[in-house]
Amino acid sequence: MTSKASSIWGGRFQGGPSAVMEKINVSIGFDQRLYAQDIAASKAHCAMLARQGIITATDAQSIQGGLDAVLKEIESGRFEFKNDYEDIHMNVETRLTELIGPAAGRLHTARSRNDQVATDFKLWVRDAIDKLLVQIAAFRTVLLARAQDHAETVMPGFTHLQTAQPVTFGHHLMAYVEMLTRDAGRFADARKRLNECPLGSAALAGTSFPLDRQFTAKELSFDRPTANSLDAVSDRDFALEFLAAGAILAVHMSRLAEELVLWTTPQFGFVRLSDAFSTGSSIMPQKRNPDAAELSRAKAGRVIGDLTTLLIVMKGLPLAYSKDMQDDKEPVFEAADTLELVLAAMAGMVADMTVNKERMKAAAGAGFATATDLADWLVQHLNMPFRQAHHVTGRIVKLAEEKGCGLDALALADMQAVEAGITQDVFGVLTVERSVESRTSFGGTAPANVRKAVQAAKEAK
Ligand code: ARG
Repeated sequence: MTSKASSIWGGRFQGGPSAVMEKINVSIGFDQRLYAQDIAASKAHCAMLARQGIITATDAQSIQGGLDAVLKEIESGRFEFKNDYEDIHMNVETRLTELIGPAAGRLHTARSRNDQVATDFKLWVRDAIDKLLVQIAAFRTVLLARAQDHAETVMPGFTHLQTAQPVTFGHHLMAYVEMLTRDAGRFADARKRLNECPLGSAALAGTSFPLDRQFTAKELSFDRPTANSLDAVSDRDFALEFLAAGAILAVHMSRLAEELVLWTTPQFGFVRLSDAFSTGSSIMPQKRNPDAAELSRAKAGRVIGDLTTLLIVMKGLPLAYSKDMQDDKEPVFEAADTLELVLAAMAGMVADMTVNKERMKAAAGAGFATATDLADWLVQHLNMPFRQAHHVTGRIVKLAEEKGCGLDALALADMQAVEAGITQDVFGVLTVERSVESRTSFGGTAPANVRKAVQAAKEAK
């Protein structure tokens, strides 16, 4: 069961780990994704050690050259990641030793894998945030363009998925722009808070070496070094914040995906996805399935699960580092990959979907969607209390239902039989176009508002 003792901590060990021990312990299979951050952090640490006179300039030079060589090997695919060396930190260090000899052993002065991994992981999450922010901005641009095109397109607005009041499709799309703007804000906030450098916290207590932590923080574009060594090596709230912001973003995407699924049914018929984003059925030739929307909806489950996973990993851990925390990476990697894919799919679908304005308008007029407009007219023109107007409108809706027609198709005399004060003027508010045009309150659905909101959103970015 045993093989040779580790070259890294072998001093105290006679035998190597059992196969099961190795299997549960090894993380190189996934944490190799931290290679660029690991090497960047090592280079900063090495430069600092030399500046502080903790290692010689000659050793530092050879370490820097060796790290550059390791980076090149990894990026060209020539590097062999080995389970024997457990994780990315020891894989890099072992290869460095092979390349430059004993000087490599000086790199780990005043450092532990605990502050090393916290630093690498923060750098990785920071990069992931920056990439997601670019993608969110791109999707926002797509939504803004489509909202502009459809500032006047009337569709039914729903509550309880029952026809409620007419809205404009542009206004509906702008609702998602608002959500994405807040999503971007959450990631940006998380980025601000995470941007403190753990390097130099060492295993948990700091170190007796005369480090310059300001220098390493600056080298790695952190705002400052972390203030407490125990906290720095043992919290993963930066990863949790990333996942929380990600889970909310995924939920927003899932809701829009659900709407695309509904809108593309023959029953709604509001939207047609391009061939590039539709799939056929192997048995039913008429089918155009919105698989990308369905999968985007499904994938919210993963991201929510990733957040839950890490919350549970962290919840019982005493300070400072525990190996449990090695399990922080896979949920974060999965969430980042999933969000990248979902944002691309959603932006792709929305960018080239075809909108059926006629179907939307017909549906907007069905279900007595302008009943509230009638009630508002009674309040504004007959000075009726709203509660009474609601009641009168209810009776008129019932009449229209009995006659099997829309409100705007009722005869004036029929309406007057319910409320004598109603005049011809009421028909001006009963069409869906007039209904949306009248919703000019700030944040309301009127086409003029949508155009202004698009403009404002473009200027804000
Ligand atoms: N691979 C480890 C992780 O990701 C690195 C830190 C190991 N530290 C330790 N004390 N065993 O958490």
